Amino acid sequence: MDGNGRWAECQGFERVKGHCEGARAVRDTVETAARMGIPYLTLYAFSVANWSRPRNEVDTLMRLLVDFAKRERMDLRQNGIRVQVAGHVEELPTVTRLAVRELINATRHGDRLTLTLALSYGGRRDLVDAARALAEKVRKGEIDARAIDEQALRSEMTTRLLPDVDLLIRTGGESRISDFLLFEAAYAELMFLPMMWPEFRPEHFLAAIQGYMGKERRFGLTSAQVRTQDQDAARANGRILRPVVGY
Ligand code: FPP
Repeated sequence: MDGNGRWAECQGFERVKGHCEGARAVRDTVETAARMGIPYLTLYAFSVANWSRPRNEVDTLMRLLVDFAKRERMDLRQNGIRVQVAGHVEELPTVTRLAVRELINATRHGDRLTLTLALSYGGRRDLVDAARALAEKVRKGEIDARAIDEQALRSEMTTRLLPDVDLLIRTGGESRISDFLLFEAAYAELMFLPMMWPEFRPEHFLAAIQGYMGKERRFGLTSAQVRTQDQDAARANGRILRPVVGY
């Protein structure tokens, strides 16, 4: 969700105003994802590196999270949206932590969309922590080092409840990943969009999803192999090959 600060500065506002507008775009994006039938939406709301921003900016972001958690709780719950966190909710200030925990608790039965907020999150940190946790298990004799595989690593990460990323969208005109879901996005389609996050609208989201639907994802296979697999799966499931998302 990049571009909040630049959007505000362009309009002659302070950077924090951009985050407030960004929170509105969050609401619309979550609603659009639910309407489109997307099962998982993960938002990079606060990175480990963001702690080093000016104090008033960090405070504003923490307050916006509280506002979001309180204001949207009932709507999210009623719409079947389950909220969870990747990263380290325990590192947030008490008021924010409690509001986010309450939001997680209130929405825990949602089965339409899982909304994951990445908070105090870093992809490298998640990998390092997972490696350390596995090393500790080996040291204690709980697991054999030879049994460590991708699944074992995943199971120690704070994203363990998420499937791999299919589509990663970054607004704000930069073409980088900035430590987001490094392991989980190994085969993701990447989309870098020019508009700033407060300008991101449902129609941009829909266009991104439609772009994604037109991609052939090969996961290292050849195009011919993928087509054969698609057709086999379609015959087995009696489904159409590339369903168009309704909105
Ligand atoms: C990056 O833009 C954005 C963030 C660091 C925070 C994102 C937060 C929100 C959208 C609002 C609060 C979130 C929720 C879930 C209610 P930037 O400030 O780095 O923009 P810049 O590159 O233009 O400076």
